[in-house]
Amino acid sequence: MAEKKKMSVADILAAARADKQSAPDAEKPAAKPEVASADSSPAEPSGVEAAPVSAGSSERPSVSDILAMARSGKGKPVEEPKKSAAPAAKQPTAKKAVAAKQPVVSGAKKNVQRDTASILEAARAGTKPGPVSKSEAPGFSKPTAKPAVKKAAKAPPPPVPPRPVRQKSEKAAKAGAAKTGASEDRRGFLAYTVGSFMAVGFTALSVTGGLFSMGLARFFFPNVLAEPPSSFKVGSKEGFPSGVVETKFVAQYGVWVVNADFEGVQQIYALKTVCTHLGCTPNWLEAEQKFKCPCHGSGFYKDGINFEGPAPRPLERYAIKIADDGQLEIDKSKSFQEELGQWNDPASYVTA
Ligand code: FES
Repeated sequence: MAEKKKMSVADILAAARADKQSAPDAEKPAAKPEVASADSSPAEPSGVEAAPVSAGSSERPSVSDILAMARSGKGKPVEEPKKSAAPAAKQPTAKKAVAAKQPVVSGAKKNVQRDTASILEAARAGTKPGPVSKSEAPGFSKPTAKPAVKKAAKAPPPPVPPRPVRQKSEKAAKAGAAKTGASEDRRGFLAYTVGSFMAVGFTALSVTGGLFSMGLARFFFPNVLAEPPSSFKVGSKEGFPSGVVETKFVAQYGVWVVNADFEGVQQIYALKTVCTHLGCTPNWLEAEQKFKCPCHGSGFYKDGINFEGPAPRPLERYAIKIADDGQLEIDKSKSFQEELGQWNDPASYVTA
């Protein structure tokens, strides 16, 4: 039974084909038992068992012997299944019956293809042993068109030629220049406006700073009154006749120039026009030959001695002298008071 399992139909067929030429006359005896077996029993057992019968030997060869005989080409004549099947072909009904009754043949074929001999043959031929798929078939070629199409579809786009650079037209250039000029104008206007405001601000700040500095300097230095000079000339003494009180210098210099007798001496002197009571300015009354104060009624004679009203003392005199040019020069920086005996000072009068 172990030998039956090891042998396969393919091996037997291969051995039979290899020894076909060497043992031609062994075919006929093998046909008889196969046909008979086809009629009576399934094909595979009959085929397997037919080989030893056709060989004419009583012992059944082992698989290794058959393979050795097949390789050396000197094996015993083995009945070829096809030859044995030829008479069966003449009897189609019998063959069909045999095929129908032998469902194990396909399974046996599978076993045969997986056998050592088939594996060796396949290895020698360079093909895969056993059943092969459609893609593994020798004549099958994988379709390559689709990937090629895909590759072609995924191929990078052809390079785009560079676009020719257009020269700017004069209009575009002018428009650009106008835009640039407008923006420059706006920038210039903004800069001018900001600059003007800044200039005005800085100018105002500078002016304020200057005024503040001037006020500060004025604060540190003493005030100077714009007063008329204290010495002034009133003309020659001939212009002041005896007994006359000249009032034309009252408004400008606050002085009466009088040519009158005082204690037996004819003198020209300058009386101060300030009332000794509270400082009012008296009026010369030619008709009454006196100075009358309008404030409180004080009265003074022509020589300045007080005689009525609240005035406590006589009027004061300024210094007077004859200048180098012969004119009478009055100096208001010096004053002389009668109650103090100062009227006797020669600086307080000029002899007429
Ligand atoms: Fe001249 Fe009073 S001020 S009398």
